[in-house]
Amino acid sequence: MGMVIDPRLNIIDKRLYSIKRLIGVSGGKGGVGKSLIATVLALTLSRLGYHVGLLDLDLSAPSAHVILGIESVYPKEEKGIVPPVVHGIEFMSIVYFTGDGPAPFRGIDISNAMLELLAITRWGSLDFLIVDMPPGIGDAMMDVIRWMKRVEFLIVTTPSKVALETVKKVIKLLTELKFPIIGVIENMKIRESSLVKDELKKVAVPILGEIGFDMKIEDSIGDVNKLLESCFAVEMREIVLKSPEFKLQLK
Ligand SMILES: Nc1ncnc2c1ncn2[C@@H]1O[C@H](COP(=O)(O)OP(=O)(O)OP(=O)(O)O)[C@@H](O)[C@H]1O
Ligand SMILES: [Mg+2]
Repeated sequence: MGMVIDPRLNIIDKRLYSIKRLIGVSGGKGGVGKSLIATVLALTLSRLGYHVGLLDLDLSAPSAHVILGIESVYPKEEKGIVPPVVHGIEFMSIVYFTGDGPAPFRGIDISNAMLELLAITRWGSLDFLIVDMPPGIGDAMMDVIRWMKRVEFLIVTTPSKVALETVKKVIKLLTELKFPIIGVIENMKIRESSLVKDELKKVAVPILGEIGFDMKIEDSIGDVNKLLESCFAVEMREIVLKSPEFKLQLK
């Protein structure tokens, strides 16, 4: 059986060509805060003056549009699909195509839908494209990251042994596949504990910082101005400012 070359491979390369840094926000377990971190990170970088895109690749539970409070903006068709600029960031999500109904994708369809999204989206010249990934590294995800050759990973965990166990697996897998890992954000911290730090030392992956459990975050979901004033966003901004990973030469 010969290798079948999917024509989308070339197109995706071209589509991602003018993006300086491609950062996938990933993690082991579901519900650890990937979407909130991806969205607030995108907004924070944008407020610092960078050109930023946000791509929600979580087909089964797209959330970034809810966090951003997007209701009636849609992408424009123009030799592909041009993502609308919302709150200063270029935003693309599968939700534009599926609406609020459940995504009608299963198995191989999931990778196809993700690849399609990557192939049709015409990003501008971006400093950062932040990608909100589905939980874990399933088959579909494995398919897709091969197509985003330059993707680097930001890993999210909570200070829980259970979450950390899966995160370690994800780190091992990504390392074996030679994808760079920028570091880990420890989210929803409620007390002092060196659990995450100690475990990550063993695998030589840096902790970029921690974000405390923010009791009031729910009131800010869907309201970008409130969101950017939240304790969550303040801590996110500190992480971005102190981490060399997020420094790019501004034009
Ligand atoms: N630091 C925090 N403090 C308080 N609540 C938080 C914090 N981080 C995330 N949350 C809340 O936890 C819930 C899960 O967050 P989010 O949807 O970002 O997780 P996720 O990892 O993307 O989940 P999924 O795996 O389902 O995609 C959301 O209601 C979010 O508002
Ligand atoms: Mg999510």
